[in-house]
Amino acid sequence: KRRAFANIPPGPTPWPVVGNFGGYFIPSFIQKRFGQGSVREMKTAMDILTKLAEHHGNVYSLFVGNQLLVVLNGFDVVKDALSNHPEVFSDRPEIPAVTILTKRKGIVFAPYGPIWRRQRKFCHTTLRNFGLGKLSMEPCILKGLGTIKTELLRLNEESTGAGVDLAPLISNAVSNVICSLILGQRFHHEDHEFCTLLGLMARGLEICVNSPALLINIFPLLYHLPFGVFKELKQVERDITVFLKRIIAKHRETLDPGNPRDLADMYFVEILEQQAAGEVGSSFTEDYLFYIIGDLFIAGTDTTTNSILWILLYMVLYPDIQDRVQAEIDDVVGRHRVPSLSDKGSLPFTEATIMEVQRLTVVVPLGIPHMASETTEFRGYTIPKGTVIVPNLWSVHRDPTLWDDPDTFNPSRFLDNEGKLLRKECFIPFGIGRRVCMGEQLAKMELFLTITSLLHAFKFRVPEGTPTPPLLGRFGLTLAPCPYTVCVSTRG
Ligand code: HEM
Repeated sequence: KRRAFANIPPGPTPWPVVGNFGGYFIPSFIQKRFGQGSVREMKTAMDILTKLAEHHGNVYSLFVGNQLLVVLNGFDVVKDALSNHPEVFSDRPEIPAVTILTKRKGIVFAPYGPIWRRQRKFCHTTLRNFGLGKLSMEPCILKGLGTIKTELLRLNEESTGAGVDLAPLISNAVSNVICSLILGQRFHHEDHEFCTLLGLMARGLEICVNSPALLINIFPLLYHLPFGVFKELKQVERDITVFLKRIIAKHRETLDPGNPRDLADMYFVEILEQQAAGEVGSSFTEDYLFYIIGDLFIAGTDTTTNSILWILLYMVLYPDIQDRVQAEIDDVVGRHRVPSLSDKGSLPFTEATIMEVQRLTVVVPLGIPHMASETTEFRGYTIPKGTVIVPNLWSVHRDPTLWDDPDTFNPSRFLDNEGKLLRKECFIPFGIGRRVCMGEQLAKMELFLTITSLLHAFKFRVPEGTPTPPLLGRFGLTLAPCPYTVCVSTRG
């Protein structure tokens, strides 16, 4: 295989047929092989990819079947490729299962080009306007947090000391933010329709990343098999489609162009404006909106939920840091109001703590795969057109030349001598370059408000008599902590 390409980056020798079985498959393969997820697994998958760089250099290659993958390691290399050569390295590869489900529409897996650019620009601007304008996200996020707090107290009492699993509460609140933003609707966390939609999405993702359906990526025809997970995947896809299309149709029927309620309405207004301007063949269609909604749901829920769960887990495991964050919040906010976004600049230690957890846990550790859109020379190697490019963000955040003692949890590394927040260029949990996360601002808002609000209200601790929850990661779509429970007590 290697001999078929001249001057490609070095790498381990691939096996016949399956290649190095790396890239998309390593995480789930390791999880399957070694059980339900452990820190060793998380480290193993990432360490394998990061360690390979020690042998082969920061730019090395792997094969998945016959597909050539180039893994980029370390900040300089990742930045060089994605920021300095954006025209070559901003495309997305065709991953058969993803292509079947998304038709390469939407934003996340859309090919790099004018359609992606225009759709992304529209959604990005709309999100930004919601963040700042009359449909401000802050009250919406705070409303969800009110519900979490009440529920958390109730469940904590009912658990009689056994502790509460935070995952469903956080996941519902985060999903509700996306729902309000896109569909103008908040759902009660026990709402049947809402739970059904979340359940379907979770099941669909689980099948895609953690079942024999993964084989669709090697043998796409398997998708059509009328039994097992293949049949279930098609059913889940149909159910989600019916659900979302019904909501989209309702938006169309009740649209008041002068008074858009959410992103779906703004999208319809854009369609109408383009039609009025006589634009023909535009990608802005009701069909495309369906894929945009799916993308924002998938990209915006699991990532944010797991980041919040990781931060709260670290707070339980490092009670001294939890105390310090709470003391800072009390100092700035006091005890008579809830924290707000306007406090952000005055809470550097809290911000540094959030960033340090994001650095260590990297919920999207290998980014989303990119693809070389033309054959190019990069750092002395030839990267053929169609090569899948994997930015190893994990390696960037653990690079000992950039971070002192990179495995240690130390929020102060993000502070200067006067305790002011340091912005570090090599901190890139949202990626870098033209494909950088489109929801970065929203996610940062959600992380800040959720963490400050919960830590302001409660003290979190490990339930008595239970073992300390380990810092374990599980691969799904993103890197999630293993399930854990906490006890809360109201503060002051
Ligand atoms: C892409 C991280 C939250 C929407 C990405 C990428 C990363 C990332 C690493 C890939 C960048 C690349 O391809 O190089 C995160 C993290 C989040 C988060 C860590 C939370 C803590 C969100 C939210 C939304 C969102 C809340 C939307 C509401 C997107 C979209 C893309 C993306 C649409 C694809 C961008 C493109 O292909 O042009 N995110 N994300 N993300 N994210 Fe996020």
